[in-house]
This record gives sequence, structure tokens and C-alpha cells, in this order.
Amino acid sequence: MSKKTELIQSVKGTRDLLPGETGLWQRVEDEARRVFAAYNFREIRTPILEQTALFARSVGTDTDIVTKEMYTFEDRDSEALTLRPEATASVVRAYIEHGLYNEGGIHKLYYFGPMFRRERPQKGRYRQFYQIGAEVLGSDHPTIDAEVLEMLMLLLERLGLKEFKLLINSVGCAKCRPEYLKKLRHALEEVKAQLCADCQRRAHTNPLRVLDCKIEADQPVIERLPHILDHLCPECRQHFECVTTELEERGVAFEIVPRLVRGLDYYTRTTFEITSGLLGAQNALLGGGRYDGLSEMLGGPPAPGFGFAIGQDRLVLTVEESAGIELKPPLDVYVAWMGEAARGPAMRLTRELRREGVSAETSFQQVKLKKSVGLANKLRVRHTVIIGEDEVASGQYQLKDMETGEQKAVDKGQLAAAIKAKQGGTAGPAGEPSPQAE
Ligand code: HAM
Repeated sequence: MSKKTELIQSVKGTRDLLPGETGLWQRVEDEARRVFAAYNFREIRTPILEQTALFARSVGTDTDIVTKEMYTFEDRDSEALTLRPEATASVVRAYIEHGLYNEGGIHKLYYFGPMFRRERPQKGRYRQFYQIGAEVLGSDHPTIDAEVLEMLMLLLERLGLKEFKLLINSVGCAKCRPEYLKKLRHALEEVKAQLCADCQRRAHTNPLRVLDCKIEADQPVIERLPHILDHLCPECRQHFECVTTELEERGVAFEIVPRLVRGLDYYTRTTFEITSGLLGAQNALLGGGRYDGLSEMLGGPPAPGFGFAIGQDRLVLTVEESAGIELKPPLDVYVAWMGEAARGPAMRLTRELRREGVSAETSFQQVKLKKSVGLANKLRVRHTVIIGEDEVASGQYQLKDMETGEQKAVDKGQLAAAIKAKQGGTAGPAGEPSPQAE
């Protein structure tokens, strides 16, 4: 007896996005591209594989990402490589490597793509996940922070998102943060015995991370720790005030959260997150901030930066929950043909429609009219073209509107134009079949 062949499954924490889901992913990407273009951002594509040192130096050697979550391996020539856990470091590396700073001015860049972190998988948290991100390089002006946040709000609004909150903070700069950290360490010494084991460790290794602790019992103690906002230098304080004033002027609602520190070491001054009440435990929809020293950390010239990354997996989940956007059915027309004489004309018409940008499907075998209409309904097409022997003889094909049930003869040369004229009009909501026409 032959042994049953074992199935090979996808790797834990990775997912296949099937055709039923990718329509929404594309819709989110299209909307992001439109909004980014309106704000004069241009796309950058960097490799998924980078030298490990890039992330160690930028994200930070004491962070969870670098110590526990990176997919790092030694290449065949002994080079240490890592599947990128985030893309800000890569964008800044590319900016330096290609001397983009020589062009002067500011660079507004955006990217889409997979990132890799070996975290414990759960709803909204994966080991391969996707980000939609944007970075502005070349200026530390607070208007950039406000403008990028305004752009984000427009994108979320366009996607019909509900129940989200913008949380912002300032984490100071290389001048004021060490002083604050000294005070925080000192305060932690006094109370650390009351905190969880992780916090006791972080009190030494990375005290800022204590502020990010989610353990319920620790919260009253952490609430009483010194706030970084009370320890900013005058320049950082003024920068933060300018950002919040500009946000108010632009009508962007926000909440100041002095405990918002984020899990990457490169941040300076403004940090922010947008959380969604629709997401559950992993409620950070996106995060970002300013990183004015990152270029120098990577061996480049001074090039202050500001940016964000949206977790696309989480964004898609939230868009689904908000039910704020409608998806157009993927196919426009079904071409139904009856009788061998109609086969050739149906194939030619299908080809013509496709060449005109009208998405069309037909059958390669004869199908009875009733079954064809059923098939067209299943495909959720707005129109069906019906071609039988009479239609072939007259050159006038039947065009049926599946939504209204209306049917009329249209000259075969005019079909593409007639269908296009109706497109974008009253297509039914995503997921719901068009009303039965028969
Ligand atoms: P981050 O906060 O590490 O920031 O990630 C940004 C977003 O990616 C998170 O808010 C979350 O939505 C999503 N994300 C992170 N990890 C996972 C995961 N395991 N599964 C699903 N989604 C996840 C950054 O990556 C920075 N590079 C953002 C930035 C850009 N800062 C300045 N410029």
C-alpha cells in the first residue's frame, strides 16, 4: 500500500490572500496611490532583503524587533542578511546610497510591501504582514508632520473608516531625552519591585519601553512616572506646539498621549499612532513619527525625516468592519452564445470588448440561455450580451442590463461604447449579486 503524501502547508504566521480578498486589498492600494499622488509623493521600491546591520543600527539593538523578531540568516558567502521587519531604514539607506540629497529640496516617498517579524500570530498580527508607508526626507519643519497627518486622515476618510483615534506625543531629541531617561531610571528604581518581570528588565535595558507596558496591574504605577512632555528642551517643546497648532488649523482631531513611545529607537520629537476600536487586542492601525538623526546613524548626511507605516492587513480588516466602501464587481460583461454559428462572433466580440477595456467572459462550450443567465448572475456582471443565430444574421446583438432586466438590440460595433456609457453608474454594492433579471 502506498504511503499517503503529506500536505505541505503555508508557513505559520503567513497567509494566502485569495481572489475573494484581493479586490479589497487592491482598492485600498489604489486609494492610497491617489491620495499620495495628490500630496506629491512618489513611489520607491527597495529590496526585501537587507544587511542585518541596517536594522541593528536604526531600529536599535535593544528593541524587541531586533532581539527577538527578525528573520536573520547567514548567506552562503557568510554575509548576515535579514528579511526586512520595516522599511524606513531601507528607504533612508536608499536615499543615502543614491545621493538623493544631492538633488536638494525635500523628498516625499511612499512604498507598499511585505515585512517580516517573528511574533506570536493572532488576529491582525502575522509573521509576514504588509505595510503601506510614506517618508518625507530633508526637513524638520513641523508643517511636514501636520501635512502628513492630514494626508493620512484623508486616506482613512476616503476608505470610509470609522472609530479611529490619532494619538500623538513628542519623545524629544538627543539633547533632552538623556536627561529625561536619567529621571525615568531614577523613578523606576523606586517603584520597579511593583512592576512585572518584563518591566523590571526593561527598567535597565530600555526604560522608555516600560511606558508601553500593557499589564493591567502595572498601570497605576506607570501613570505616576515622569512624563517626557514635561522634560522637553525649548526647541522640542516649540516644535511640538507648532505641530499641534497646525493640526488644529487643519481640522485634524488628536489626543496627546505622553506615554506613546513606540517600539523603534530611531524616533525623535513627534511620534504618533492611529488606533482602531474595531481591531481588538492588536489595535494599532498605523504608527510613525520623526527620525531626525537616522540618516547620520546610517553614515549619511543630516537629513531629518518624518513618516508612517500603515499595517495593511489591519487596515483591510478595519475597512471591512466599517463597511464604508463599495467594491465594483470584478467583471463587466458575460457573452452568452447559442448555436455553433454564434461561437465565432461571440469570441470576436469578447476579444473586442477586452481590447476596449471592458472586462468580459464567455463560455468555450455551448450553454443554454437559462443557464447562461444564471452564470451571469453568479459572476455579478452588470451586462449580458446574448448572441444566437438571428443576432449573427442581423449584426444586432441583445444587450441585457442585469440590474433593471431591460433588454435591447445593439449594433455589434456599438456594444463596447454602450456598456462603457453605463459603467460607473449604478453598480450594485460589493458582495451582493445583482437583482435577478429572469
Ligand atoms: P511599526 O509601528 O513597527 O512602525 O509598524 C507600523 C504598523 O505595522 C503597525 O501600526 C501595525 O499596524 C503594523 N504591524 C506591525 N507589526 C505587525 C504584525 N506582526 N502583523 C500585522 N501588522 C503589523 C514601523 O514599522 C515604522 N517603520 C513606521 C514609520 C515609518 N515610522 C516612520 N516612518
